[in-house]
Amino acid sequence: MSIQKEIAKRKTFAIISHPDAGKTTLTEKLLLYSGAIQIAGAVKSNKIKKTAASDFLEIEKQRGISVATSVLSFEYDDKKINLLDTPGHKDFAEDTYRTLTAVDSVILVIDSVKGVEEQTEKLMNVCRMRKTPVIILINKMDREGQPPVDLLDEVEAKLDIRVRPLTWPVGYGQSFKGVYNIYKHSFAFFTSNKTTIEDDIQTFKDLDDPALAEVLGSSVAKLKEDLELINGVYEEFTPDLYLSGEVAPVFFGSALNNFGIKELLETFCELAPMPAPRETTSGMIQPDAEKFSGFVFKIHANLDPKHRDRIAFLRVCSGKFERNKFYHHVRLNRDMKFPSPATFMASTKNVIDDAFPGDVIGLYDSGTFKIGDTLTEGENFMFKGIPRFSPEIFREVRITDPFKSKQLEKGIRYLTDEGLAQLFTQNLGTKKVVGVVGELQFDVMKFRLFHEFGASCDFYPLSFHKALWVKFSNESEIDELRRIRYNNLYFDKNNNLVYLAESEFSLRMAQQNNPKAQFLTSVEHNDQTVELELFYNESNSLQK
Ligand code: G4P
Repeated sequence: MSIQKEIAKRKTFAIISHPDAGKTTLTEKLLLYSGAIQIAGAVKSNKIKKTAASDFLEIEKQRGISVATSVLSFEYDDKKINLLDTPGHKDFAEDTYRTLTAVDSVILVIDSVKGVEEQTEKLMNVCRMRKTPVIILINKMDREGQPPVDLLDEVEAKLDIRVRPLTWPVGYGQSFKGVYNIYKHSFAFFTSNKTTIEDDIQTFKDLDDPALAEVLGSSVAKLKEDLELINGVYEEFTPDLYLSGEVAPVFFGSALNNFGIKELLETFCELAPMPAPRETTSGMIQPDAEKFSGFVFKIHANLDPKHRDRIAFLRVCSGKFERNKFYHHVRLNRDMKFPSPATFMASTKNVIDDAFPGDVIGLYDSGTFKIGDTLTEGENFMFKGIPRFSPEIFREVRITDPFKSKQLEKGIRYLTDEGLAQLFTQNLGTKKVVGVVGELQFDVMKFRLFHEFGASCDFYPLSFHKALWVKFSNESEIDELRRIRYNNLYFDKNNNLVYLAESEFSLRMAQQNNPKAQFLTSVEHNDQTVELELFYNESNSLQK
């Protein structure tokens, strides 16, 4: 098959949601439809249940599941679909942010009872920044949730994206009858159906078809009224509006009951984008470029304590990847070959011979990869758009066994390269501050430093609340910052200057006193700071 055909077949996406909205259940149903699995219950949740530090092995065991399910590939309707898994626990949200850099679209699951939750807002911010096309599933329609119109209003207000329902529910909770497909004029009848995967769908001429009134009874009047309102309020759906990330088509369903999922999957196959061109330091790279290129977006520690191997997950962006062929590791300026590149499916690992744009492969790594690394056929560009965001919790690392300082140093570098946490240093590296998104990562770090590197340390809480990368074109622009806030200035792993702020107020003051410097909430993984998201706009007022 030609490379163009391989590319046109592929759809690489992630499902994102607040924990418990139904991501695992939906994943399982998609795999059932594709025939990739035969029975419900085959997909394990990668949710990390609340655990105490002493239960660390349990955390790792649960995290292990997410290696196995890192990329689920299946075929449906002649398409090769790569579903990139994201951790269910919010403390590993940064992993999810990075995974979003490797997909071409997302399906966002919202719980109809709980509406838009905090984690969903954060994930959606990343999608919006990247203009990733989003399809929304309002799940759990079998439960007494919020009225659909209210849910859509909430989605638009909190997620800052325009929506367009493609299906519309008749009733919800106890009175849920099913969903009407606005464009196909079909009605799918709801049945509580946990085992079979066929929806009961009937097609009608239009809303005035007497057959529809026959099956829906008095609910038809309400459906007509709702649809009139929807067609008046929401603009006509076009694939372009979806593909540009401006409008999210919305489906209503119940993943647990296998309801509305087939329609979602079919629309996804029809609409979702194929692998897109990607930006690099030397311009855009088209997926059908002759030469292979790709980047590492996730590194996962191998769970075998006897080996300190890791698996680096690489997204193929252009050309064809081949096993045992030499590729150029751009950052290290070194050629490497990979004898056993792998894909993972449920609990099995398969060595693959080749991979195409949109595919994700696992490369065994003994410490040569960092997040954001690029492999090429010799060219010297790096992929852009793999951001690091400000952590939310900061602690100072203090060594507890001074004879093991080298091991500690090495361990911290190793784990931060993996993206487990971010390291900020001061005083030529003697003062180390670790920043993370969730508390759990400190437990993970402590455990791994001890077991993999023989180093022990304590983490002392600090009152910082945000890390801002400081960008300036001339040292004099940060004179004030150096003079007054010297103790808040640190360096990140790439020696970029970072301002650790205690509060929004201290941030505002820093910006006011150093008006020419820019304070950024995110930067690229590979060295250069880029203006992905300016914390302040020109008038120095806080942005969202
Ligand atoms: P997550 O991966 O997003 O965290 O969510 P997950 O699929 O694990 O679903 C969370 C809970 O919500 C599960 O129940 C699941 O069965 C339930 N659920 C998912 N979709 C629907 C739906 O459409 N309707 C209803 N009523 N429930 C749904 P649980 O009790 O936490 O787990 P389990 O014992 O059922 O596995």
